Amino acid sequence: MLLEPTVNALVDPGFEAKARVFEQHGEVRNPNGVYVDGTFGRGGHSRLLLSRLGPGAKLVVFDKDPVAIQAALELQSRDPRVQVIHGGFASMFEEMQAKGLTQVDGIMLDLGVSSPQIDDPERGFSFMREGPLDMRMDTSRGMTAAQWLAEADVDEIREVIAKYGEERFAFQIAKAIVGRRESRPLRTTLDLAELVASVVRTREKGQHPATRSFQALRIHINQELEELARALAAALRLLAPGGRLAVISFHSLEDRMVKQCIAAARRRSEAQSRLPIFEKDMPRPILEPLGKVLPTDEEAKENPRARSSVLRVAQRTDEPLPADAESFVNAIRLVPQKSSRAARRKK
Ligand SMILES: C[S@@+](CC[C@H](N)C(=O)[O-])C[C@H]1O[C@@H](n2cnc3c(N)ncnc32)[C@H](O)[C@@H]1O
Repeated sequence: MLLEPTVNALVDPGFEAKARVFEQHGEVRNPNGVYVDGTFGRGGHSRLLLSRLGPGAKLVVFDKDPVAIQAALELQSRDPRVQVIHGGFASMFEEMQAKGLTQVDGIMLDLGVSSPQIDDPERGFSFMREGPLDMRMDTSRGMTAAQWLAEADVDEIREVIAKYGEERFAFQIAKAIVGRRESRPLRTTLDLAELVASVVRTREKGQHPATRSFQALRIHINQELEELARALAAALRLLAPGGRLAVISFHSLEDRMVKQCIAAARRRSEAQSRLPIFEKDMPRPILEPLGKVLPTDEEAKENPRARSSVLRVAQRTDEPLPADAESFVNAIRLVPQKSSRAARRKK
């Protein structure tokens, strides 16, 4: 999805989001540099990037999904430039540091679930296919959606569905889930999809009534927004001056976070602009936005899942990071609130 523009965003010295037609075989900025693909999937983006890079390049790829990791290991066996990490991209900074790779030329994230994950009923991501209510990207660890729904209370379920699904009927859905599990546990995707459909009265055009609830549960089970917040913080610390960040998001919660991070890293001098300090002493932007790219009508027609995708691109400036980079990132409020039960448990 948005394959060409994403790879071009990392390697094309004159990348311009507005330009819509992307140079296919132009000059490459750092052909032997260090790159990260945080979401390997089946390696579409990685393969295209590798085809543009030189023999001395390094590409570190991450994925939570064991099946995606199998595909990545196969690619690694044929291409020594590839290094594979099974795990969340949230730990990108620590993992890259452990490899001694702390100056990175390009990082790409193609967020969300992959088509093979949605299409495999056993993974439990689809409300259209009967399968276990799993929804974990990493099937080797963590709680499934069915396990979580069997334990969580009404408030907690409502909060997740309202916050991550932006669903108006979150309370009614949460009540129905808790009511239903008293007689029979919710085990499958269709159990849940049918229950939600019985409660959600108004259908949005072209949308299944369970779309928002499934999105919300998936985000919660995989801690997707927390992962993204940590990855954005890691990108600020890892990118070398001139290094590029390219993020494809699929829903407004993710896109808002990416947009806010880029905007905050750019505008960070604004707060100081009213203070009586010399201009030369004011902190300069950490990131410069290079724009956003939306799929063309043709792409959206060819692949309906691409319809809601947005690619945002930014370039690291040569301004040193503030010493408290972590608190800088927290200050831009990227990390969503913990759910009430988790917060209570922490106290
Ligand atoms: C949309 S797909 C990426 C497709 C990929 N760009 C390709 O060309 O095949 C997203 C992938 O990212 C993985 N993923 C999602 N969130 C992740 C995270 N926090 N850490 C690591 N992998 C993640 C998913 O398991 C999935 O394989």
